[in-house]
Amino acid sequence: MSMINRQLRLMHRPEGLVRREDFELVRQPVSELGDGEILVRVLYISMDPTNRVWMRDIPQYMPPVAIGEVMRAGGIGRVVESRSAQFNEGELVQGFVGWQDYFVFHESAADTYVRLPADPGMPLPRLLGACGTSGVTAYYGLTDIAPVAAGETLVVSAAAGSVGSIAGQIGKIMGARVIGIAGGVDKCRYLVNELGFDAAVDYKTKDWKKSLQDATPNGVHVNFENVGGEIMKAVLSRMVLYGRVALCGLISGYNGDTKPGDDFSVIVIKRLAVRGFLVFDYRKTKQAVAALSGWIREGKIKAEETVVDGLENAPLVLNRLFDGSHKGKLVLRVEPEA
Ligand SMILES: NC(=O)c1ccc[n+]([C@@H]2O[C@H](COP(=O)([O-])OP(=O)(O)OC[C@H]3O[C@@H](n4cnc5c(N)ncnc54)[C@H](OP(=O)(O)O)[C@@H]3O)[C@@H](O)[C@H]2O)c1
Repeated sequence: MSMINRQLRLMHRPEGLVRREDFELVRQPVSELGDGEILVRVLYISMDPTNRVWMRDIPQYMPPVAIGEVMRAGGIGRVVESRSAQFNEGELVQGFVGWQDYFVFHESAADTYVRLPADPGMPLPRLLGACGTSGVTAYYGLTDIAPVAAGETLVVSAAAGSVGSIAGQIGKIMGARVIGIAGGVDKCRYLVNELGFDAAVDYKTKDWKKSLQDATPNGVHVNFENVGGEIMKAVLSRMVLYGRVALCGLISGYNGDTKPGDDFSVIVIKRLAVRGFLVFDYRKTKQAVAALSGWIREGKIKAEETVVDGLENAPLVLNRLFDGSHKGKLVLRVEPEA
């Protein structure tokens, strides 16, 4: 077999933003398949803030990626060769693909991959964003973890990103008054003018805490928290008694440059219910995906993806999650023809 696989292997644990030199690009021939093995061509890689956490040697919900290991990542690929009766050439699969061109899995691990229909009815990057992990996270955060009711005020941080943009739009569908926090005028305009948020707060301005106060005259009933640090602190200070927090993520600390706050007194004083959650706990995602696809079809949710080309660019593209230079779901296209 003459196919060459390029793999990005973690060589150093990055400090701050990721550098190309933290990874080695290794080229090696794809080896012959054994019985029961399936070879998959990676088409799209999901760029997720949690990827940055996986590079760190700290306690987390999965083992850190080891030095020398191919970088772990979710994505979508197409079966190009199969020595298993369970998978056919041409099928689309979704799951852990890694930062590489090809990967092989054994049929005994088949349940770790989701088989996609031949025609998924939407662009593949959307299956990683609004109709994938991001949308499902937003859906359960606001229907199970911290349900928001009509007439209540919901604040979403990292609101123009993949999870946040969907969370805010679900809040609107539920009849809430929705305030988004995002960096920059363009993103704030996008939230209000295109996604239908009631107001947006640009946390990069000097007086953003005052803007948050003005946008939440009756306090905040539900906080869908993606950022942590100063932003979370400011939102908690605006919460009503017995307010609810869906603690989805704390991206401001993932590069290791900010420390999580250690003052929990506001949670006591306001008797807040703060619930962390991981989307992996929701195995039955069909209900969420059906609801999200329906809302997109009906025009109630706008889904957006930023697609960037080139496996070799993965380390620097990941940094866009931290400098905010994307909207919606950030996806890397590995196969140019995909
Ligand atoms: N619990 C779960 O199962 C689960 C699943 C998926 C994602 N998540 C979490 O959800 C959050 C959003 O993930 P995503 O995939 O949707 O990414 P994303 O929102 O598309 O991208 C991250 C955004 O965060 C903002 N940001 C980055 N660093 C920041 C900082 N220091 N201060 C303020 N804002 C900052 C940037 O937007 P601005 O331009 O507005 O700064 C950036 O666009 C993350 O915390 C992630 O870990 C959790």
